[in-house]
Amino acid sequence: MGKPKVLVTRRVPQECLDILAPHFEIEHHDKGTAIPRPALLKKVADKEGLLCLLTDKVDEELLARARKLKAVSTFSVGYDHIDLRACAARGIPVTNTPGVLTDSTADFTWALLMAAARRVVEGDDDMRRGRYKGWDPLMLLGTDVHGKTLGIVGFGRIGQAVAQRACGFSMRIIYHDTRRASPQAEAAHGAAFVPLDDLLREADFVTIHTVLDESTRHLIGARAFGLMKPSAYLINAARGPIVDEKALVQALKSKRIRGAALDVYEWEPKMAPGLASCRSAVLAPHLASATLETRTKMGIMSAEGLVDSLARGARSPYLVSS
Ligand code: DGY
Repeated sequence: MGKPKVLVTRRVPQECLDILAPHFEIEHHDKGTAIPRPALLKKVADKEGLLCLLTDKVDEELLARARKLKAVSTFSVGYDHIDLRACAARGIPVTNTPGVLTDSTADFTWALLMAAARRVVEGDDDMRRGRYKGWDPLMLLGTDVHGKTLGIVGFGRIGQAVAQRACGFSMRIIYHDTRRASPQAEAAHGAAFVPLDDLLREADFVTIHTVLDESTRHLIGARAFGLMKPSAYLINAARGPIVDEKALVQALKSKRIRGAALDVYEWEPKMAPGLASCRSAVLAPHLASATLETRTKMGIMSAEGLVDSLARGARSPYLVSS
């Protein structure tokens, strides 16, 4: 009997392929862009394993085509692109990459926050365009970060890692989540649980670290912007559709809030009309976990998940559904 066939849907670190190679016959879409959907639907037809990305929708339509599919592993911690119920109904285990990107994502959240508050990108742009004519006391004035209130929406692994980094800035930390964290976690980060509306009213920086599901889609929209301080900033390195991006553009253009820093977009990779021209927005192309070390770990973990589920028939420690 031959090795099980698996599809790897994008270029990935070599370490990932090295783990898969002894166990599987690999079809590798070794490109920097996603497999077009019609081709993906064809390619999954004879595969038992799928190593996919957050840009590949694993839904009823795909599963109906992938009749031999026995295991899915996603090269991401987020799994909102996968219909877990449909996979579970077919007995297909799904694994992801929890934990390994927590710190890189928290680091990058701070890069976004600092860049927005201190207008780093605008300054860089002015330098490159030759607009800087010498030091000026009123040029590109930003907002202090130290001593301010950080509002964290979603106080899981990443939210808490963001809180940990706030200590050096002597910030007041408030958070909201569907479930209150343990007293130990709250004490470790000096974080206080508050209702979402209070967080939106009080925070100088609102940073999102919740999962995307039906309860969080457009969690931050016109109503939320209406509650935020006009001096506040929104940071999103979680998932784009948690923010109503058209409402965000409106809030930025009307100066309802002071600024935003985004790593993710509602219609990624596209942006809402008008967002690109908002100078008060820092815009990154989904980079939060993009370090060599972290992407290598993600590659290893995603490969191990597939090997666990498909080659060993074992219950993977990275299982998100069964
Ligand atoms: C994930 O893993 O879910 C991120 O969005 C990509 O780093």
